Amino acid sequence: MSINQLVYVSQATRKMSPSDLAGIQDTAKNNNAPLDVTGSLFYNGGWFLQVLEGPVATLDKLYQKIELDPRHKNSRVLYNEPAKFRTFPRWSMNMINLNDRQADKYDELVEVLEAAQANRRIGSAAPAVALLKMFAS
Ligand SMILES: Cc1cc2nc3c(=O)[nH]c(=O)nc-3n(C[C@H](O)[C@H](O)[C@H](O)COP(=O)(O)O)c2cc1C
Repeated sequence: MSINQLVYVSQATRKMSPSDLAGIQDTAKNNNAPLDVTGSLFYNGGWFLQVLEGPVATLDKLYQKIELDPRHKNSRVLYNEPAKFRTFPRWSMNMINLNDRQADKYDELVEVLEAAQANRRIGSAAPAVALLKMFAS
């Protein structure tokens, strides 16, 4: 079955605690698994960046629901394209708290987020996807 990869950034409406994040991940895992949706959610203390992978119609519907969640706002799709492979085939939803990550990787992510926030193009969106692969490894 052909799949799409959808990547969006959004702004958290409040500081998320580890248990807030675990709650989002639990819901996402339970809902995404039967939908054949995989992906990863990154949180950096202020922003979310999420990759969703799955059948295109399913993703569009799921994104419409997620976008309305009051825990974030200003959601903006960076990328929504067909993909030959899943980047996160084993994760119905992986969760990465970037606060725990090395500063050099963090700076690269912030660059992408700032471009998205300012509505600037970041070349093609491919750098965002490359970045996500880097974090996943
Ligand atoms: C940043 C963020 C990412 C989310 N990701 C997902 C997701 O991948 N799948 C999902 O089902 N819900 C996700 N949610 C939760 C949905 O917005 C919504 O609360 C949930 O799907 C409702 O599930 P229910 O209908 O089973 O109660 C996310 C919420 C936030 C704030």
